[in-house]
Amino acid sequence: MSYAPESIAYHQGEYKPLKECNVNIMTHALQYGTMVFGGLRGYYDAESDNVYLFRPEDHMRRLHRSAHIMQMVPPLSESKMVEVALEITRRNNYRCNVYYRPFIYKDALQLSPRLHDVSDDFAMYSLVLDDYLDTSRGMRTVVSSWRRIDENIIPTRAKVSGGYANSALAKSEAVQHGFDEAIFLDSRGFVSEGSAENIFMVRDGVLITPPVAASVLEGITRRSIIELARMEGMTVLERDIARTELYIADELFFCGTGAQVAWIEEVDRRIIANGQIGPLTRRLRDRFRQSVIGRDPETRNWVRPVFEARVNA
Ligand SMILES: Cc1ncc(COP(=O)(O)O)c(C=O)c1O
Repeated sequence: MSYAPESIAYHQGEYKPLKECNVNIMTHALQYGTMVFGGLRGYYDAESDNVYLFRPEDHMRRLHRSAHIMQMVPPLSESKMVEVALEITRRNNYRCNVYYRPFIYKDALQLSPRLHDVSDDFAMYSLVLDDYLDTSRGMRTVVSSWRRIDENIIPTRAKVSGGYANSALAKSEAVQHGFDEAIFLDSRGFVSEGSAENIFMVRDGVLITPPVAASVLEGITRRSIIELARMEGMTVLERDIARTELYIADELFFCGTGAQVAWIEEVDRRIIANGQIGPLTRRLRDRFRQSVIGRDPETRNWVRPVFEARVNA
Protein backbone atom coordinates (compact mmCIF):
# COMPACT_ATOMS: atom_id res chain seq x y z
CA MET A 1 0.00 0.00 0.00
CA SER A 2 1.67 3.21 -1.06
CA TYR A 3 0.99 6.71 -2.25
CA ALA A 4 0.79 6.83 -6.04
CA PRO A 5 0.86 10.56 -6.92
CA GLU A 6 -0.17 10.03 -10.54
CA SER A 7 -3.12 7.75 -9.80
CA ILE A 8 -6.46 9.25 -10.76
CA ALA A 9 -8.69 10.27 -7.86
CA TYR A 10 -11.94 12.24 -7.58
CA HIS A 11 -12.00 15.58 -5.77
CA GLN A 12 -14.12 18.73 -6.00
CA GLY A 13 -16.24 17.21 -8.75
CA GLU A 14 -13.36 16.24 -11.04
CA TYR A 15 -11.12 13.31 -11.85
CA LYS A 16 -7.48 14.33 -11.45
CA PRO A 17 -4.08 13.02 -10.31
CA LEU A 18 -3.95 12.36 -6.57
CA LYS A 19 -1.05 14.79 -6.18
CA GLU A 20 -3.43 17.61 -7.20
CA CYS A 21 -6.13 16.70 -4.66
CA ASN A 22 -5.25 19.01 -1.79
CA VAL A 23 -7.07 21.04 0.89
CA ASN A 24 -6.44 24.27 2.81
CA ILE A 25 -4.97 23.86 6.31
CA MET A 26 -8.01 25.67 7.79
CA THR A 27 -10.38 22.98 6.50
CA HIS A 28 -12.94 22.09 9.16
CA ALA A 29 -12.44 18.32 8.73
CA LEU A 30 -8.71 18.63 9.27
CA GLN A 31 -9.18 20.71 12.42
CA TYR A 32 -12.01 18.70 14.02
CA GLY A 33 -12.08 15.24 12.43
CA THR A 34 -15.43 16.02 10.78
CA MET A 35 -15.09 13.57 7.94
CA VAL A 36 -16.95 10.31 7.37
CA PHE A 37 -15.43 7.64 5.24
CA GLY A 38 -15.83 4.27 3.68
CA GLY A 39 -13.36 1.65 2.58
CA LEU A 40 -14.12 -0.95 -0.03
CA ARG A 41 -12.21 -3.38 -2.11
CA GLY A 42 -11.99 -4.35 -5.72
CA TYR A 43 -10.71 -7.89 -6.21
CA TYR A 44 -8.82 -8.84 -9.32
CA ASP A 45 -9.59 -12.26 -10.75
CA ALA A 46 -6.90 -13.30 -13.24
CA GLU A 47 -9.03 -16.00 -14.83
CA SER A 48 -11.77 -13.59 -15.93
CA ASP A 49 -9.28 -10.68 -16.10
CA ASN A 50 -11.73 -8.48 -14.26
CA VAL A 51 -11.95 -6.40 -11.10
CA TYR A 52 -14.94 -7.05 -8.82
CA LEU A 53 -16.13 -4.37 -6.42
CA PHE A 54 -17.38 -6.01 -3.24
CA ARG A 55 -20.83 -4.80 -2.15
CA PRO A 56 -20.24 -1.22 -3.35
CA GLU A 57 -23.91 -0.24 -2.92
CA ASP A 58 -23.80 -1.32 0.74
CA HIS A 59 -20.62 0.62 1.35
CA MET A 60 -22.05 3.79 -0.19
CA ARG A 61 -25.30 3.37 1.74
CA ARG A 62 -23.34 3.20 4.99
CA LEU A 63 -21.36 6.28 3.94
CA HIS A 64 -24.58 8.19 3.34
CA ARG A 65 -25.88 7.07 6.72
CA SER A 66 -22.66 8.14 8.43
CA ALA A 67 -23.07 11.53 6.74
CA HIS A 68 -26.66 11.77 7.95
CA ILE A 69 -25.61 11.11 11.55
CA MET A 70 -23.03 13.91 11.21
CA GLN A 71 -25.53 16.35 9.66
CA MET A 72 -23.75 16.35 6.32
CA VAL A 73 -25.34 16.81 2.93
CA PRO A 74 -23.67 14.34 0.54
CA PRO A 75 -22.94 16.06 -2.77
CA LEU A 76 -23.45 12.78 -4.68
CA SER A 77 -26.10 10.08 -4.49
CA GLU A 78 -25.12 6.55 -3.42
CA SER A 79 -25.30 5.27 -7.00
CA LYS A 80 -23.17 8.18 -8.30
CA MET A 81 -20.55 7.34 -5.70
CA VAL A 82 -20.51 3.73 -6.95
CA GLU A 83 -20.06 5.13 -10.46
CA VAL A 84 -17.04 7.11 -9.27
CA ALA A 85 -15.43 3.90 -7.91
CA LEU A 86 -16.03 2.18 -11.25
CA GLU A 87 -14.64 5.14 -13.18
CA ILE A 88 -11.54 5.37 -10.97
CA THR A 89 -10.87 1.70 -11.67
CA ARG A 90 -11.20 2.25 -15.40
CA ARG A 91 -9.16 5.45 -15.50
CA ASN A 92 -6.33 3.78 -13.56
CA ASN A 93 -6.72 0.68 -15.71
CA TYR A 94 -6.29 -1.50 -12.65
CA ARG A 95 -5.53 -5.21 -13.09
CA CYS A 96 -4.85 -5.88 -9.42
CA ASN A 97 -6.49 -5.79 -5.98
CA VAL A 98 -7.61 -2.27 -5.18
CA TYR A 99 -8.75 -0.44 -2.06
CA TYR A 100 -11.05 2.58 -2.48
CA ARG A 101 -11.40 5.31 0.11
CA PRO A 102 -14.57 7.39 -0.49
CA PHE A 103 -15.27 10.17 2.02
CA ILE A 104 -17.46 13.16 2.74
CA TYR A 105 -15.84 15.94 4.70
CA LYS A 106 -16.65 19.37 6.05
CA ASP A 107 -14.66 21.47 3.60
CA ALA A 108 -15.48 24.97 4.90
CA LEU A 109 -12.67 27.16 6.21
CA GLN A 110 -14.59 27.58 9.40
CA LEU A 111 -13.36 27.92 12.98
CA SER A 112 -16.32 26.71 15.02
CA PRO A 113 -16.52 23.00 16.00
CA ARG A 114 -20.13 22.42 14.97
CA LEU A 115 -21.99 20.40 12.36
CA HIS A 116 -24.72 22.70 11.08
CA ASP A 117 -24.17 25.33 8.37
CA VAL A 118 -20.74 24.01 7.42
CA SER A 119 -20.38 22.90 3.79
CA ASP A 120 -19.47 19.36 2.71
CA ASP A 121 -17.59 17.82 -0.19
CA PHE A 122 -17.04 14.29 -1.46
CA ALA A 123 -13.76 12.76 -2.62
CA MET A 124 -12.37 9.31 -3.40
CA TYR A 125 -8.91 7.90 -3.94
CA SER A 126 -7.65 4.39 -4.45
CA LEU A 127 -4.59 2.32 -3.63
CA VAL A 128 -3.20 -0.99 -4.77
CA LEU A 129 -3.73 -3.22 -1.74
CA ASP A 130 -3.33 -6.92 -1.03
CA ASP A 131 -3.50 -8.09 2.60
CA TYR A 132 -3.81 -5.46 5.35
CA LEU A 133 -3.14 -8.08 8.04
CA ASP A 134 -0.99 -11.13 7.31
CA THR A 135 -3.79 -13.70 6.88
CA SER A 136 -1.37 -16.59 6.25
CA ARG A 137 -0.88 -17.00 10.02
CA GLY A 138 -2.88 -16.46 13.21
CA MET A 139 -3.22 -13.01 14.79
CA ARG A 140 -1.59 -12.44 18.17
CA THR A 141 -3.91 -10.07 19.98
CA VAL A 142 -4.29 -8.26 23.28
CA VAL A 143 -7.26 -6.68 24.99
CA SER A 144 -6.61 -2.96 24.80
CA SER A 145 -6.23 -0.73 27.82
CA TRP A 146 -8.21 1.79 25.72
CA ARG A 147 -11.99 1.40 25.81
CA ARG A 148 -14.00 1.66 22.60
CA ILE A 149 -15.66 5.04 22.13
CA ASP A 150 -19.39 4.66 22.33
CA GLU A 151 -22.64 5.89 20.87
CA ASN A 152 -22.84 8.90 23.16
CA ILE A 153 -19.23 10.00 22.73
CA ILE A 154 -18.49 9.59 19.02
CA PRO A 155 -20.90 7.16 17.34
CA THR A 156 -19.02 4.10 16.07
CA ARG A 157 -21.96 3.35 13.75
CA ALA A 158 -20.85 6.35 11.72
CA LYS A 159 -17.34 5.95 10.37
CA VAL A 160 -16.18 9.36 11.60
CA SER A 161 -12.51 10.14 11.02
CA GLY A 162 -12.14 11.82 14.43
CA GLY A 163 -13.19 8.58 16.11
CA TYR A 164 -10.22 6.81 14.60
CA ALA A 165 -7.90 8.45 17.11
CA ASN A 166 -9.38 5.79 19.41
CA SER A 167 -8.42 3.01 16.96
CA ALA A 168 -4.96 4.47 16.46
CA LEU A 169 -4.28 4.56 20.22
CA ALA A 170 -5.27 0.89 20.56
CA LYS A 171 -3.46 -0.31 17.44
CA SER A 172 -0.18 1.39 18.35
CA GLU A 173 -0.34 0.18 21.93
CA ALA A 174 -0.84 -3.41 20.70
CA VAL A 175 1.86 -3.32 18.03
CA GLN A 176 4.37 -1.50 20.24
CA HIS A 177 3.90 -4.26 22.83
CA GLY A 178 4.67 -6.90 20.20
CA PHE A 179 1.13 -7.96 19.19
CA ASP A 180 -0.57 -7.81 15.82
CA GLU A 181 -3.88 -6.29 16.80
CA ALA A 182 -5.94 -4.93 19.70
CA ILE A 183 -9.36 -6.08 20.91
CA PHE A 184 -11.49 -3.30 22.37
CA LEU A 185 -13.93 -3.69 25.24
CA ASP A 186 -16.90 -1.34 25.16
CA SER A 187 -17.70 1.11 27.93
CA ARG A 188 -19.59 -1.66 29.82
CA GLY A 189 -16.60 -4.00 29.67
CA PHE A 190 -17.92 -6.39 27.00
CA VAL A 191 -16.02 -7.32 23.86
CA SER A 192 -16.57 -4.78 21.09
CA GLU A 193 -14.25 -5.16 18.06
CA GLY A 194 -10.69 -4.78 16.78
CA SER A 195 -9.12 -1.45 15.87
CA ALA A 196 -10.50 -1.75 12.32
CA GLU A 197 -12.27 -5.13 12.25
CA ASN A 198 -15.30 -6.86 13.68
CA ILE A 199 -14.78 -9.99 15.75
CA PHE A 200 -16.41 -13.43 15.74
CA MET A 201 -16.15 -16.34 18.18
CA VAL A 202 -17.16 -19.99 17.84
CA ARG A 203 -18.32 -21.83 20.97
CA ASP A 204 -19.84 -25.30 20.83
CA GLY A 205 -20.51 -24.99 17.11
CA VAL A 206 -22.34 -21.64 17.40
CA LEU A 207 -21.00 -18.53 15.68
CA ILE A 208 -21.25 -15.52 17.99
CA THR A 209 -20.49 -11.83 17.43
CA PRO A 210 -21.12 -8.76 19.59
CA PRO A 211 -24.39 -6.95 18.84
CA VAL A 212 -24.41 -3.65 16.94
CA ALA A 213 -25.13 -1.84 20.22
CA ALA A 214 -21.73 -2.93 21.61
CA SER A 215 -20.08 0.13 20.02
CA VAL A 216 -19.15 -1.72 16.84
CA LEU A 217 -19.08 -0.49 13.31
CA GLU A 218 -21.91 -2.10 11.36
CA GLY A 219 -19.39 -3.89 9.21
CA ILE A 220 -20.28 -5.01 5.72
CA THR A 221 -17.94 -7.98 6.01
CA ARG A 222 -19.57 -8.78 9.37
CA ARG A 223 -22.96 -8.86 7.68
CA SER A 224 -21.57 -10.95 4.83
CA ILE A 225 -20.07 -13.48 7.25
CA ILE A 226 -23.39 -13.75 9.12
CA GLU A 227 -25.20 -14.33 5.83
CA LEU A 228 -22.65 -16.88 4.60
CA ALA A 229 -22.74 -18.73 7.92
CA ARG A 230 -26.52 -19.01 7.72
CA MET A 231 -26.25 -20.26 4.13
CA GLU A 232 -23.82 -22.88 5.48
CA GLY A 233 -26.45 -23.93 8.03
CA MET A 234 -24.59 -22.55 11.05
CA THR A 235 -26.37 -21.01 14.03
CA VAL A 236 -25.40 -17.35 14.43
CA LEU A 237 -25.97 -15.30 17.56
CA GLU A 238 -25.44 -11.58 18.08
CA ARG A 239 -24.90 -11.31 21.82
CA ASP A 240 -22.53 -9.77 24.34
CA ILE A 241 -19.23 -11.57 24.77
CA ALA A 242 -17.29 -11.39 28.04
CA ARG A 243 -13.51 -11.00 27.92
CA THR A 244 -12.68 -14.42 29.35
CA GLU A 245 -14.99 -16.16 26.90
CA LEU A 246 -12.40 -15.19 24.31
CA TYR A 247 -9.77 -17.22 26.16
CA ILE A 248 -11.85 -20.40 26.07
CA ALA A 249 -13.33 -19.96 22.59
CA ASP A 250 -13.11 -22.84 20.13
CA GLU A 251 -12.33 -20.39 17.32
CA LEU A 252 -11.88 -16.64 16.97
CA PHE A 253 -11.46 -14.44 13.94
CA PHE A 254 -11.54 -10.84 12.80
CA CYS A 255 -13.25 -9.70 9.67
CA GLY A 256 -13.36 -6.46 7.74
CA THR A 257 -12.65 -4.97 4.35
CA GLY A 258 -8.98 -4.57 5.21
CA ALA A 259 -8.53 -7.70 7.32
CA GLN A 260 -10.89 -9.91 5.24
CA VAL A 261 -11.07 -13.06 7.42
CA ALA A 262 -8.09 -13.18 9.79
CA TRP A 263 -8.02 -15.96 12.40
CA ILE A 264 -6.86 -15.24 15.91
CA GLU A 265 -4.26 -17.49 17.48
CA GLU A 266 -3.74 -15.79 20.81
CA VAL A 267 -5.51 -13.35 23.16
CA ASP A 268 -3.69 -11.88 26.19
CA ARG A 269 -1.04 -14.62 25.86
CA ARG A 270 -3.63 -17.42 25.98
CA ILE A 271 -3.47 -19.70 22.94
CA ILE A 272 -6.96 -20.17 21.48
CA ALA A 273 -7.96 -23.86 21.31
CA ASN A 274 -5.09 -25.74 19.60
CA GLY A 275 -3.51 -22.61 18.13
CA GLN A 276 -4.59 -23.47 14.58
CA ILE A 277 -7.25 -22.03 12.29
CA GLY A 278 -10.59 -23.65 13.24
CA PRO A 279 -12.81 -25.59 10.83
CA LEU A 280 -15.73 -23.12 10.76
CA THR A 281 -13.37 -20.18 10.30
CA ARG A 282 -11.68 -21.96 7.43
CA ARG A 283 -15.02 -22.78 5.81
CA LEU A 284 -16.23 -19.20 6.09
CA ARG A 285 -12.91 -17.77 4.94
CA ASP A 286 -12.83 -20.03 1.89
CA ARG A 287 -16.41 -19.23 0.95
CA PHE A 288 -15.79 -15.51 1.50
CA ARG A 289 -12.78 -15.69 -0.85
CA GLN A 290 -14.98 -17.21 -3.54
CA SER A 291 -17.69 -14.61 -2.97
CA VAL A 292 -15.45 -11.60 -3.43
CA ILE A 293 -14.46 -12.65 -6.95
CA GLY A 294 -18.00 -13.50 -7.96
CA ARG A 295 -17.46 -17.26 -7.95
CA ASP A 296 -20.00 -18.14 -5.28
CA PRO A 297 -23.31 -18.71 -7.10
CA GLU A 298 -25.48 -17.75 -4.11
CA THR A 299 -23.79 -14.39 -3.56
CA ARG A 300 -22.93 -13.34 -7.07
CA ASN A 301 -25.07 -10.22 -6.67
CA TRP A 302 -22.64 -9.01 -3.97
CA VAL A 303 -20.03 -8.12 -6.57
CA ARG A 304 -19.99 -5.60 -9.35
CA PRO A 305 -17.62 -6.39 -12.23
CA VAL A 306 -15.91 -3.25 -13.47
CA PHE A 307 -15.08 -4.24 -17.02
CA GLU A 308 -18.43 -5.34 -18.42
CA ALA A 309 -16.97 -6.97 -21.54
CA ARG A 310 -14.98 -9.37 -19.42
CA VAL A 311 -17.65 -10.56 -17.01
CA ASN A 312 -16.97 -13.89 -15.37
CA ALA A 313 -18.95 -16.49 -17.33
C1 LIG B 1 -13.72 0.06 13.55
C2 LIG B 1 -14.03 -0.86 12.42
N1 LIG B 1 -14.76 -1.97 12.67
C3 LIG B 1 -15.06 -2.83 11.68
C4 LIG B 1 -14.65 -2.63 10.39
C5 LIG B 1 -15.06 -3.59 9.31
O1 LIG B 1 -16.08 -3.03 8.53
P1 LIG B 1 -16.25 -3.45 7.01
O2 LIG B 1 -16.42 -4.90 6.98
O3 LIG B 1 -17.46 -2.72 6.55
O4 LIG B 1 -15.01 -3.03 6.32
C6 LIG B 1 -13.88 -1.50 10.08
C7 LIG B 1 -13.42 -1.26 8.72
O5 LIG B 1 -13.92 -0.48 8.01
C8 LIG B 1 -13.58 -0.58 11.12
O6 LIG B 1 -12.88 0.52 10.87
